[in-house]
Amino acid sequence: MGYSSPMTAGNRSIDGQLLITDRLRIRSAHVSDAPLIHRLWIDPRVTTFVGFPSGIPTSEAEIEVQIKRDWERPLKQLLIVERLADGEPVGEVKLGEPGQDGISEPDIKLFPDHWAQGYGTELWGTMIAHLFGQDGCKIVQGTPNVANTASIRMMERCGMTRMGEGRFVPSGPLRDSMTDVPHYVYQITRKAWTERGATPVADA
Ligand SMILES: CC(C)(COP(=O)(O)OP(=O)(O)OC[C@H]1O[C@@H](n2cnc3c(N)ncnc32)[C@H](O)[C@@H]1OP(=O)(O)O)[C@@H](O)C(=O)NCCC(=O)NCCS
Repeated sequence: MGYSSPMTAGNRSIDGQLLITDRLRIRSAHVSDAPLIHRLWIDPRVTTFVGFPSGIPTSEAEIEVQIKRDWERPLKQLLIVERLADGEPVGEVKLGEPGQDGISEPDIKLFPDHWAQGYGTELWGTMIAHLFGQDGCKIVQGTPNVANTASIRMMERCGMTRMGEGRFVPSGPLRDSMTDVPHYVYQITRKAWTERGATPVADA
C-alpha cells in the first residue's frame, strides 16, 4: 500500500477525477450520487462515533443542494471514493478548505463492507498529501471520537500526532439528533509531512 501523487493540483481532470491511490479513485460527487451518500449517512454504524447514533438527519434533496452549492470548490465539495478495479463505491470524503489559521480538516466515511482493508489509511495519506499541495494549508487536523479506534489508528499510521482532546457539544436543533462527542485532536504539520516523505504506510 502506498500513496500516489495527486493527479492534479486542486483542479478536476476532464472526467471529474481528482485523486488516485493504489486501489482507489476519488472523484467529485454528482447530483446522481445523492442516494448513495444518503445511504452512507443514515447508517448508524458509520455515524455513531461522529455524534449521530440514529444516522444524520438529512434527505437526498438536501444532499443534492449541498452537491450543487459546493460544485466549484474542490476542497469543500463532497467526493466519492470508488475501487479502481471495478468502480465499486467505497465511501465519501471531503478534503477541507484551510481556515485563516491554515488548518484543514478532512472527513472520511466508508461503507462498513469496506472497512479494515487499509482503504482508510490509503485515502487519508493521499488526502493529506493533496492538502499540503495547496498554498493555504499548513496543518491537517482530525478530531476522532476517543472511542473510534479505527480512525485513531488511521491517523497515527499517517504520521499524525495527538495534540490534545476536547468535546463537541451540539447546540440548537442539533441537540435532538446529536450526542456530545468526546474527541482527540490529531494534527500533522506540512514540515512533519515533508520530512516523513511519501513512505508507504504498510512498510513503515
Ligand atoms: C474510520 C474509517 C474511515 C477507517 O477506515 P478503514 O478502511 O476501516 O481503516 P483501515 O483499514 O485503514 O484501518 C485503520 C486501522 O484501524 C483498524 N481498524 C479497522 N477497522 C476497525 C474496527 N472496526 N475496530 C477497530 N479497529 C479497526 C485497522 O486494523 C487499522 O489499525 P492497524 O493499523 O493498527 O492495523 C472507517 O472505519 C469509517 O468510515 N468509519 C465510520 C466513519 C468515521 O468514523 N469516520 C472518521 C471520523 S473521525
